[in-house]
Amino acid sequence: MQKKILEILYENKEKHVLVPEIASTLDLTEEEVNDYIKVLEQDGYVFDSSSDLGYKLKKSPNLLLPYELQRNLKTKYIGKKIHYFDEVDSTNNVAKKLAEEGAEEGTLVIAETQTRGRGRRGKTWISPNGGVWMSIILRPNRPPADAPQLTLMTGVAVAQTLQKECGLDVGIKWPNDILIGNKKVCGILTEANAKFNTLDHVVVGIGIDANVDTELFPSEVREGATSLKNELNKEIRGVILVQEFLKNFEEIYDEFTAGNFPEILSEWRRLSKTIGSYVEVRKQLGKIVRGEAIGINKNGALILELDDGTLRKVISGECLHIQK
Ligand code: BTN
Repeated sequence: MQKKILEILYENKEKHVLVPEIASTLDLTEEEVNDYIKVLEQDGYVFDSSSDLGYKLKKSPNLLLPYELQRNLKTKYIGKKIHYFDEVDSTNNVAKKLAEEGAEEGTLVIAETQTRGRGRRGKTWISPNGGVWMSIILRPNRPPADAPQLTLMTGVAVAQTLQKECGLDVGIKWPNDILIGNKKVCGILTEANAKFNTLDHVVVGIGIDANVDTELFPSEVREGATSLKNELNKEIRGVILVQEFLKNFEEIYDEFTAGNFPEILSEWRRLSKTIGSYVEVRKQLGKIVRGEAIGINKNGALILELDDGTLRKVISGECLHIQK
């Protein structure tokens, strides 16, 4: 009902709307309208109100509320169902559970904060207020070996959105970190579940340090991290960023399901800050490989030219851009 009240007030943005008018449009009592307005005020909406004139919307909060996200959302199926949390352990955990229970493709789980946000390689993902912490459920009819392609695809969608919305020097560091300059602004955690040699569902988790104060991060994370707020010196509207991202994501995912992954990979290469750089990849059990990154194959493996001229394919690991 809050959504419907907001719709009326958004439609009449410049003027007040009388309480009896809202009440009769929505078949509510005037008291009920006032109660719903109070709930909206608790969410951070600010109204200009007077007993003679009714309510006028003055300010909406910079939160990722579902009724804000779904207003003007230009997607066909991504984000049509939204599970929103003020606080949650991890949006990927919730999305995995929902997917196992049969949630439909495109379902979005989004939170203002995460208490146990998860990063790659078992790391903790710090998720304070102001960030965009979200997970999308996908059901691609593909073999499990194709799951890494979804991570690459998501990296392209995030990087393109940030470039378009913020006009910054955005690029991708292999395998799936989104950088501004040489600092990380977003990470992606893809978790796949297969049945009978086909992907049953994939949860793509995306964490964007949007309006986050990276000063508050522990020093070892702070050094390599940035946020959109740091880079732009102002807060961005989270809702606009997520809406643009979901639209872009859906377009690219449609390309993926139509079999056009080679085109997506070309775009990944164009956005990559790793290809052409000299890198150190830290693999499991302390193994380290160094060389020039010269390409990426369709399974997301990085191709390195080692100092002795031999080529080496690296499937996973932590990649650092270093000086030779
Ligand atoms: C990484 O770079 O290590 C991946 C970070 C992924 C973080 C996101 S935030 C939303 C989703 N929920 C999680 O617990 N993790 C992902």
